[in-house]
Amino acid sequence: MDSRDWNKFLLPYAQAVEELKVKFKTLRAELKSREGYSPIEFVTGRIKRISSILDKAKKLNVPMDQLETGIEDIAGIRIMCQFEGDIDRMAELIKQREDMKLVYCKDYITHKKESGYRSFHIIVEYPVQTALGMKKVLAEIQIRTLAMNFWATIEHSLNYKYKGALPPDVTKRLSKAAEAAYLLDKEMSSIREEIMESQKLFEDKSNVVSKVLNDIQQLYFYHRVREAVTYQLRFNELWEQEDIWSLKQLSLSIEEAIIRAKRESR
Ligand code: GTP
Ligand code: MG
Repeated sequence: MDSRDWNKFLLPYAQAVEELKVKFKTLRAELKSREGYSPIEFVTGRIKRISSILDKAKKLNVPMDQLETGIEDIAGIRIMCQFEGDIDRMAELIKQREDMKLVYCKDYITHKKESGYRSFHIIVEYPVQTALGMKKVLAEIQIRTLAMNFWATIEHSLNYKYKGALPPDVTKRLSKAAEAAYLLDKEMSSIREEIMESQKLFEDKSNVVSKVLNDIQQLYFYHRVREAVTYQLRFNELWEQEDIWSLKQLSLSIEEAIIRAKRESR
């Protein structure tokens, strides 16, 4: 393949990565809004470099005309989660989707790799709509916690630097670091409930704050200046006191004031 063919070959993979990133970022926002918490912390994606595709094809004895089925991670998505439990939820969410088909999973969490690597991988078949019609491509979705990602990122860059031949003492220390990351995940999971509660509270607070402020603007729109000013002062007071319950009550009162204003402006 010359470089022009490579570009064409990679197009649907690049498209798949872009689309999947958007979809998982949207899912994150949707779950935050619906449930106040998202199992997705952040999402990244990349297409495999040509040199890495060639290396892997050689390693796995994949003929050049069978790269599409022989190499499953040309399109790669990474989903980072705060907690280990989020990984199962995420895998479930992916299984339920109708815009991608699960091909198989690799559970390097129950069965961590010799290196210490932990992650949950899902290979999916994803249809992209191209100018030439629909094309199904394989994509690898790696789901991991922030701690797993921290470890894998550093291990990967060290391996890169040492070209895969890590000195034994480095390997040993990386293995110890993997154990520390594992313990960190366990510890974080054990206080998960507490953290989730406080995140929910924070979402709650920022939702009620933006609702109150938007609604006060609405009152100005209906020329209810005096009411708007009164509510603004009350808001300032409650905001200062961080009194979420009273802020919610205030929000309800403002809602009623808007309904009155709308009715009377007709
Ligand atoms: P490659 O490792 O890419 O050749 O693929 P494979 O067919 O062996 O599949 P595997 O599931 O082992 O690895 C897929 C991907 O997982 C890799 O490309 C890495 O992103 C990641 N991965 C697997 N093992 C390790 C590891 O020991 N360290 C790090 N940092 N990443 C790993
Ligand atoms: Mg591998």
